Formats: sequence, structure tokens, C-alpha cells
Amino acid sequence: MEDLISNNLPGTRDILPEEIDRWQLVEERARRIFDQYGFTEIRTSIIEPTELFARGIGSDTDIVGKEMYTFIDQSKRSVTLRPEATASVVRAYLQNAMNRGGGITKLYYIGPMFRHEKKQKGRWRQFYQIGAEALGSNHPAVDAEMIEMALGLLHSLGVKAKLLINSVGCGQCRPRYIEMLRAELKVHLADLCEDCRRRAETNSLRVFDCKVESCQPFIEKLPVITENLCTECAEHFSKVQAYLNEAGIVYDVVPRLVRGLDYYIRTAFEIVSGELGAQNALAGGGRYDGLSEVLGGPPVQALGFALGLDRLVMLLPEEQSAKGRRKPELFLAHMGEPAFKKALEIARDLRRQGHSCYLDFAAGTLKSQMRLANKLGAENVLIIGDNELARGIYSIKRLKDSCQWEIGLAEISEYLKSRK
Ligand code: HAM
Repeated sequence: MEDLISNNLPGTRDILPEEIDRWQLVEERARRIFDQYGFTEIRTSIIEPTELFARGIGSDTDIVGKEMYTFIDQSKRSVTLRPEATASVVRAYLQNAMNRGGGITKLYYIGPMFRHEKKQKGRWRQFYQIGAEALGSNHPAVDAEMIEMALGLLHSLGVKAKLLINSVGCGQCRPRYIEMLRAELKVHLADLCEDCRRRAETNSLRVFDCKVESCQPFIEKLPVITENLCTECAEHFSKVQAYLNEAGIVYDVVPRLVRGLDYYIRTAFEIVSGELGAQNALAGGGRYDGLSEVLGGPPVQALGFALGLDRLVMLLPEEQSAKGRRKPELFLAHMGEPAFKKALEIARDLRRQGHSCYLDFAAGTLKSQMRLANKLGAENVLIIGDNELARGIYSIKRLKDSCQWEIGLAEISEYLKSRK
């Protein structure tokens, strides 16, 4: 029989209770900051028709060519677990006519993505992204604001990271540039690695992603897109930089920065961290003014980014994890069946009033229940035995200083409130 309990599928894992505080901290912080910038949450489906990603991301990309979780469902339809969410957000935006009133629509999402990539530190096959998309504007200040928001989130968590930006041109200037690139690559074809030889034909820009040592001298001499932009793209890029400068944002222009998805136009950026090792990209994004049309919609100018939640959590200090954990305000220790029933009733009543209560179901001794209360970090213990039941007066013990006194039912909530 297959062992079902020792391992998850490779590249997938469980996020356990001891780690969850850090995840929730990041998610809550992101929600607050995105809200400040006027973004609202969207939850799109995790499974989509394969064609949405094949067309949206580009059939020559590694994601579509090698990494998608694609299968034929019971209706004989080819479906895919989303490898990213931008194509889905654009689909939902068009499908729900969010472009109707004109103006800018700001959306964000938090959730799992799936890519069958080679396993490596910082890389999972089910990973989580926090992403934001602004649809309906090509104003360069929107690009700068999006970057400012992403960096603001990282800074608020005490994470140091570096911003790399580039412009990858548009439908006017990029084809001309790619021709030039291809011609140059043809001259050196014999000296390049197998992947580069293939990319030279299919997706020349991706040559800049090659890590093979012997290819580097040739790649370094290739013409760069930033020197071959059309006037409009060059102007847009210089305005984005001016807005970033005004916001006091430090960045490096990296003319060889290309992204692994085909939909980018003009602004492309990455936020990297030196503490992550080989998989150093914390976030990536850019403008994708042509994506809507590729999917069959009207022209929509848009940009966005996604941040790798798994990688960000890796960078947060351990102590962040204990910060948010809620300790029970009251542990109810009970002796005997009638006391247990009373404890259930008191806990129910106090929880309705907003208090956090914990009681043990194992019917252990008072000593073992006190031990558990200490382990959980409970603030107070209410002791319920036959005596207390008969009198309707209980003992309460504050664990911090072991101070113990008697309390009536009606006063417990007041006391707990006074401790908040
Ligand atoms: P991406 O660069 O493919 O862009 O992914 C964004 C981020 O997701 C990466 O920088 C990385 O932190 C994280 N990530 C990607 N793959 C993995 C993995 N296998 N394991 C762990 N983390 C990973 C996009 O997905 C675009 N949709 C971003 C975007 C939004 N562009 C415009 N709008």
C-alpha cells in the first residue's frame, strides 16, 4: 500500500500552527496597506481553462511549456491549476465589465499558485502570492505608486530589499529590437548553450536569463532594449523614474532584466533580497497593456506585481511568530461531571461576550489542568469543583503572580475586560 502519511507531494507542504502567525502577520499588513492605496480584494478561481494561461502568459515561456499542472477533466476540457493570477484577474475584470465606468480599478489577491518547477530552496510547486493589479491607466505615476506600495509592505515588516527596474518596450519598438537581437545571436549560435540556441529562435529576450558561465561573455555584448525604445516608451520610462525619485525610492536600472511571462510591456521590475540565495526574487511585476486584447478583450492599460509569500515569511525573524498568538484569557479547570457541564456553560457565555476561554476535555486532575493552563500561557484559571458549584462562588487564580481570590459569575467578564 502506498505510504500516505509520511510525505506531502514534492514541492508542497503544510503551513503548521507554529508558523501561521508570521503568515497572518504579512497577510494582515498587506490588507491594511493595500486598503490605504484604494485596492480591494478579488478571489478568482484557482482552476481555469488551460488556454487562458497559454495565451496570457505565452506558449513559449517556461511556465506554459514546462511547469503547468494541466489535466483533462470529466467534461473532457483541458484545465490548469493557476500558475499565476494576473491572467485570471484580467479575465474577471472583463467578464464582470469592471471597465464599464472607465477610470482605474485596483484589485489585490492572496492565494496559492502552482508550478511544476525543479525543487530548490525558496521554490515550491504550490506557493503563495500576494499580488495587486491596477487596471485602466497608463499614467507613469501609477507604476511608481504600485512599486511604492510593494516596497512599503516590505519596509513595514522590516525586510530590506533592492528594487530593479527596466522597460521592455512595446509592440512598436520591441519587435525591431528582437530582430536586432536575433541577428546578433545568430552570429554566436555555435558558442551558446543549447537553451540559448533554442531561445534565440523562439523567445530571444529570455537569453538574458541564462546562467551558463560560457554564455555570459556573449550575453554581455548584446544590444540592450533600453537603448532601443521608441520615443513614447523612453518618455514613459523616464517619467516612471522621475516619480520614483520624487518618492525617494532607490532603484537600479537593469537593462537586461526580462521577466518570465510574455505579457509585459514597458515597465518591468523585480524586488530582490540578498538573504534568499539563488531564488532571490521576492516580488516581480510590470505593465501589461496588451494582455486584455490577447485574451479577446478591448485595450486595457494595466500593471501589477506579485510577491512570493513563502519567501517573504522566510525572511521574517522568528520572534515575529510569537507576537500575534492569542493566549486564553481564562482556563476553566473542572472537577467532576457537574463541574464540567458548568465549565462548558460559563465558557460559552464568556465567549459570547468576546473572551477567549479554554477548557480541557480529558477530565484530568487539578494539577494536570494547571500544568496545561501554564503551557498554553493562559492568564487566569477559574477553578470549578463541587464546593464552588454549591456556593455559586468560584476561585480565580492569576497565573502571572499566583494571586488567588473568590469571584461570582457575574463579575468574571468585568474582571477580564479590566485586564485587556
Ligand atoms: P512571477 O515573477 O512569476 O510573476 O512571480 C512573482 C513572485 O512569486 C516571485 O518573485 C517569487 O517571489 C514568487 N514565486 C514564483 N514562483 C515561485 C515558486 N515556485 N516558489 C516560491 N515562490 C515563487 C508573476 O507571477 C506575475 N503574475 C506578477 C505580476 C502581477 N505581474 C503583473 N501583475
